[in-house]
Amino acid sequence: MERLQKVIAQSGVTSRRKAEKLIEAGKVKVNGKVVTELGTKVSNDDDVEVEGVPLEKEQPVYYMLYKPRGVISSVKDDKKRKVVTDYFEGVEERIFPVGRLDYDTSGIILLTNDGEFANLLMHPKHEVDKVYVAKIKGIPTREELATFKKGINVDGERLKATYSKIMSTDKRKNTAIVKLVLHQGKNRQVRRMFEAINYPVDKLKREQFGFLTLKGLNPGEYRELTPKEVKQLWADASKIVE
Ligand code: URA
Repeated sequence: MERLQKVIAQSGVTSRRKAEKLIEAGKVKVNGKVVTELGTKVSNDDDVEVEGVPLEKEQPVYYMLYKPRGVISSVKDDKKRKVVTDYFEGVEERIFPVGRLDYDTSGIILLTNDGEFANLLMHPKHEVDKVYVAKIKGIPTREELATFKKGINVDGERLKATYSKIMSTDKRKNTAIVKLVLHQGKNRQVRRMFEAINYPVDKLKREQFGFLTLKGLNPGEYRELTPKEVKQLWADASKIVE
C-alpha cells in the first residue's frame, strides 16, 4: 500500500505537490469514489482516476529471490539494514515480498506487485507447502517430532507441521538437520516450534515454496517466474480453497 499522492506522482501524471492539490480539490477518485484525504493508501488493485482519466496500472510481475541471511523481508528498514528489494535495482515496478522470512533465515521468497496473488498464497487455508530445513541444537526423538503433526500450543497459538523428518545427526556436536513442511506461516513459526520442545534453531533455510525450488540460484540472486509457474501457483492455491 502506498499513499495516493505518491502513486499519482510515480505514474508520471504530475508532481507530488500538485497531486496533493488535486486530491484536496476533489479531482481524484479511488474505485469510483472521490477521495480528499491526503493520507489515503492505495494498492495496485485499486482503480485511481485523476480529473476523469484513469491512471495506467503497472503490469503484474512475479519474482523469486534466494534471500541470504542478514536481510529484512521488507521494502524499507528504519535502521537502514539491507532489505529484499535492494536486490532488484533494475526493476521499476513497486514489488513487495509475499510473506516474510526472518532476518536470519535464508531461502526462497517471492516478490510481486500483485496484491491478490500475494493474499491468495499467504492465506493458511490455501495450504501452499513451505519446506524448511533447520539445523538444531540437540537431537530430538521421533516422538518429540511427532508432536508437530498434531500441533503444539505456543503463546496461545496452535502451530503445526504437516511433515517432519530428521535428515541427519551429528552425535559428537549434538546437532541435527531436520526437514519440516508447513502450511501455516505464523511469525517465527519454525524457531518457536523447536524452542517449545527445547531444541533451539541454529540455522534455518526455506528450500521450497509450493513447487518452486531454489535450483539454479545462489544467495542474493533472483529470477522472474515463468507465466506457466505463475499460472500453476494460482491454480494450486485456488484448488485447495474449493
Ligand atoms: N519460521 C521461522 O521461524 N522463521 C522463518 O523465517 C520462517 C519460518
